This record gives sequence, C-alpha cells and structure tokens, in this order.
Amino acid sequence: MILIVYAHPHPGRSEANRTLLAAVRDLPGVELRSLYDSYPDFSIDVDAEQALLAQARLVVWQHPLYWYGAPALFKLWFELVLVRGWAYGPGGDALRGKDCLWVTTTGATNDAYSAQGKHGHRFEAFVPAFEQTARFCAMNWLAPLIVHGAHAIGREALEDHARRYRLRLQAYLDEHG
Ligand SMILES: Cc1cc2nc3c(=O)[nH]c(=O)nc-3n(C[C@H](O)[C@H](O)[C@H](O)COP(=O)(O)O)c2cc1C
Repeated sequence: MILIVYAHPHPGRSEANRTLLAAVRDLPGVELRSLYDSYPDFSIDVDAEQALLAQARLVVWQHPLYWYGAPALFKLWFELVLVRGWAYGPGGDALRGKDCLWVTTTGATNDAYSAQGKHGHRFEAFVPAFEQTARFCAMNWLAPLIVHGAHAIGREALEDHARRYRLRLQAYLDEHG
C-alpha cells in the first residue's frame, strides 16, 4: 500500500532520517526500500523497482537533501526507473493516480533558506523539481514533510517530526486501507 523509497548514502550514520523511519517502518502496509542498502554498487534492478512501485498506492520519496536535491543514487533511480513508456509518455501510465509524499531533511535551518540567508532562496524554490517529477508521472503531490535544521533541532524535535510522520501514514492507511 505504502512504498517508502529511501536514499541515504550512509544509513548507519543517519540521525534524522533514521529517527523518521523508526517511527513508521513497523506500520502494517508500509514497505521500505533502502536504495543504498539494495544497490551499494549503483546497479539498480529496474524491473524490481517498477514492480514495487506498481503495487503501491502511496509512494514516499525520503532522503536527506544533498546539494539542493536528491543523493546521487536516487537521481539515478529517477533516471532509470521512471522511464518513458512506463512512467510518462505514450503508454506510460504505471504511476497515474498514485499519491506521492516527499520527505526530506536539511542541514540548514529554515532561516537560512531566504533571500538574505546562506542559501539565497526560500526553501520553496527547491521544491518544484521534485513536485513536477511526480506530476509529470501523473501522480498526486501531497504536502511534503520537511525537517529543517536536522543537526540543530535536537532529539525531542526530531521525535516530534517522526510522530507526525507516523500519524500521516497511519491516517493514509486508515483512509485507504
Ligand atoms: C554532500 C552533502 C550535501 C548536502 N547538501 C545540503 C543542502 O543542499 N542543503 C542543506 O540544507 N543541507 C545539506 N546537507 C546536509 C544534510 O541534508 C543533512 O546532513 C541531513 O539532512 C541530516 O540527516 P541525517 O541525520 O539523516 O543524515 C548536505 C550534506 C552532505 C553530506
């Protein structure tokens, strides 16, 4: 029902994403696909990935923000898995109507994402590439879950985000299960 496609280059060293995942991975109906665990050599099994996507109703894209985007293996996953004739274009209806939830964590605080801040733009400026990827594949874009200041906010705030993540997925399962 819910497929979490997770891309963290060092899953064992993660604090924020690991905390988020710990809160949701035991939910019945949630399947976790950790790309860096599955494909340490970057050799993605496209058929297996497409089969997992095909059976999901909600697809979660979860990763730490790297250079204002997705870590390298996740970029490759987009390139190889979401292909013309399957995800978009003529006959490319495999993802049509599925829901998509983007979950990401950033090192910078929300303040740093402003015209005057270190990152020069509001965080919203970095969202469209993800949102439009989903929309291009005819998926429904849900309000993303963004955790800013992942290293600074502390354990309690991280746990709070994790609780909210769980509530969102639980509500989705209750509504669609
Ligand atoms: C290569 C690299 C690039 C990064 N790029 C960004 C970035 O563009 N914006 C940002 O806010 N944080 C950036 N960060 C910080 C990570 O997003 C942050 O360490 C991560 O979200 C923390 O989550 P974790 O505890 O699950 O690893 C970057 C970190 C690395 C290692």
